[in-house]
Amino acid sequence: MTVIRSVVLGCGSHLPERTLTNSELAASVDTSDEWIIQRTGIKERHIAAPGEMTSDLALKAAHKALDNAKIDAQQIDLIVLATSTPDQTFPATAVTVQAGLGIHHGAAFDLQAVCSGFVYAIAMADGMLRTGNFKRALVIGAETFSRILDWSDRTTCVLFGDGAGAIVLEAQSLPGTTEDRGVLTTRLRSDGRHKSKLYVDGGPSSTQTVGHLRMEGRAVFKHAVAMVTDVIDQAFKATGTTADDLDWFIPHQANKRIIDDSAKKLGIAPEKVVTTVDRHGNTSAASIPLALDVAVKDGRVKKGDLVMFEAMGGGFTWGSALVRW
Ligand code: ACO
Repeated sequence: MTVIRSVVLGCGSHLPERTLTNSELAASVDTSDEWIIQRTGIKERHIAAPGEMTSDLALKAAHKALDNAKIDAQQIDLIVLATSTPDQTFPATAVTVQAGLGIHHGAAFDLQAVCSGFVYAIAMADGMLRTGNFKRALVIGAETFSRILDWSDRTTCVLFGDGAGAIVLEAQSLPGTTEDRGVLTTRLRSDGRHKSKLYVDGGPSSTQTVGHLRMEGRAVFKHAVAMVTDVIDQAFKATGTTADDLDWFIPHQANKRIIDDSAKKLGIAPEKVVTTVDRHGNTSAASIPLALDVAVKDGRVKKGDLVMFEAMGGGFTWGSALVRW
């Protein structure tokens, strides 16, 4: 018996040119390099140039992912783009990327699950590929969080950055064991009772403005580790794997303390944890594919490796995806 697996053919990412260091931020808000590094692990983040939009970053990441996968854009028939910072309220940023790639067939849409967006997008694309209706998907996480930050609020503006990352998935018939390459399982959760702990105070239907990100940092921190470790345990149970089987743990890059505490609670060795929060800050839905691309390009993540992705964000939403590279 065979099953359809969504196998990763390649990945790519793109960061805006401009970097913003903690010391630069300390010149405009009451903060310091030491405070930010100690509480978050962040040293710098990338900020989109004026006029540079989420779709621009996404398109560049998509081109690089297609090159890395060695396939032509015309072979893609599905684009799922995770973002909370679309170019416009509509159309979806995904169709701008679709047009930019010269693709006139298939389907493209945005998915909004805040920082969990990339894990949700993997799950969505995997489900659609496994129906047999689509053959190859671009799964993109792309954000310009700099556009929704209150730059006078030191409790939030120091945490986030801009960027995009993408992977190419292809439906392949495989034996259906955990040795298969591809997405082995995804576990998604949300609980809207927490929606006021991390939100944007604007939107088309409420204020008719874009709004600014607001967060109860301590409350987010308190829930983060328990929530992500729960969905990771579920992924282990669903596949009969354990932390020892993992080659790489690529978590959402929000805060080094959350990453370290989660890995410790799960018994994942520190050398298996991919961390880029120091250079990228929290890029929301883009953070996992950005970290992944770094680890693939520097030779850490190799074909056949077992990789766990996890994320937690506004909503709250959270989820995990276990993938054999
Ligand atoms: N610089 C200097 N001081 C600051 C700053 C800053 N940038 N921000 C807050 N402070 C001050 C506070 O005002 C407070 O001062 P007070 O004691 O005089 O009142 C003090 O530092 C401690 O504030 P806390 O909020 O308790 O600091 P904490 O140790 O919790 O760190 C942080 C704050 C980094 C936000 C932490 O709570 C955190 O990481 N939370 C999770 C946030 C997160 O990861 N969000 C994203 C996840 S979901 C997603 O990715 C969208």
